[in-house]
Amino acid sequence: MDAYAPGRVNLIGDHTDYSGGLVCPMAIDLGTSVEVAPGGDVLELVSDADPAPARIPLDITEPARLTPPWARYVAGVVAVLRPSVGGRGHVRSTLPLGGGLSSSAALEVATALALGADGSDGLALAMLCQRAEQLASGVPCGIMDQLVCATGQAGHALLIDCTTFERTPVRIPGDVEVLVVNSGERRALATSAYALRRREVEQAAAELGASLRDVAVDDIAAISDPTLRRRARHVATENARVTAFAAALGSGDVRSAGQLMADSHVSLRDDFEVSTTTLDGLVDSLCRTRGVWGARLTGAGFGGCVVALAAAGTAKALTIPGAVVVRAEGGASVRG
Ligand code: GLA
Repeated sequence: MDAYAPGRVNLIGDHTDYSGGLVCPMAIDLGTSVEVAPGGDVLELVSDADPAPARIPLDITEPARLTPPWARYVAGVVAVLRPSVGGRGHVRSTLPLGGGLSSSAALEVATALALGADGSDGLALAMLCQRAEQLASGVPCGIMDQLVCATGQAGHALLIDCTTFERTPVRIPGDVEVLVVNSGERRALATSAYALRRREVEQAAAELGASLRDVAVDDIAAISDPTLRRRARHVATENARVTAFAAALGSGDVRSAGQLMADSHVSLRDDFEVSTTTLDGLVDSLCRTRGVWGARLTGAGFGGCVVALAAAGTAKALTIPGAVVVRAEGGASVRG
């Protein structure tokens, strides 16, 4: 079977998904295809991006130890899906690998579909792949990446409620360009720092006796530890920004939408402490560029990409190297 899944960029709402909050990502026009001819009891894949082939036994128990490392995400899917038949196949991707555009989620979703997972229930598919990602990377990630890769809609971002999993398409205005710049920073700290942030958010919620999704910004003052208080303040204010952003973008108010993105970056930088000097520098240069409405780091942070909302045509005049325009595309599909 031949399956394709897009990568994603998150417009706003970071480090909110794993506490049941709000996010607003879009699936993009870069992605990964996985083609498998079924047969045998091993999955053998080659990738355009790495000369080392992958050989994954169908009874694999520790995907995180597999080499080559790119195939751990495939192995994670095999460990969760437990297909009864293996196969031989090929992975091709237009996404920068490990570059903060969810290349791993795209690989998981495309692999699951290529191995026969039911694609008609996008949420179930995303949950399967979220589990695969956690097994493969050891990162206790949320659902955002896999869910938008599985269920994105062309021309729209998705406002996702990570408590109910309700998804509301938000139209991207036609005169807008979404720009992505890869910082080139590898996210070496991401595994441990992401898990630490998640624990801090859980501790803050436990102290308040409520989900951070439901607390008002004023309630946060009751948290005694100053670090936990700042973490919680990021989550509570970020959830409010996502709601305001979806309303602003949906009504074509790109100035307000951009300002909310810039505010989100400040919160991720100062309260959640997941930015880097390079990311801050890129966001500053973008925000000072004519035609840019706002910019922020996108995804987990500690490196990876920044995203900007800009007037159509801005990219052409941009002097920042490596900036690419991404378009909102539909979610994953089986191609035969
Ligand atoms: C990574 C995770 C997501 C989400 C973001 C931060 O991309 O996979 O679940 O938590 O970080 O918003």
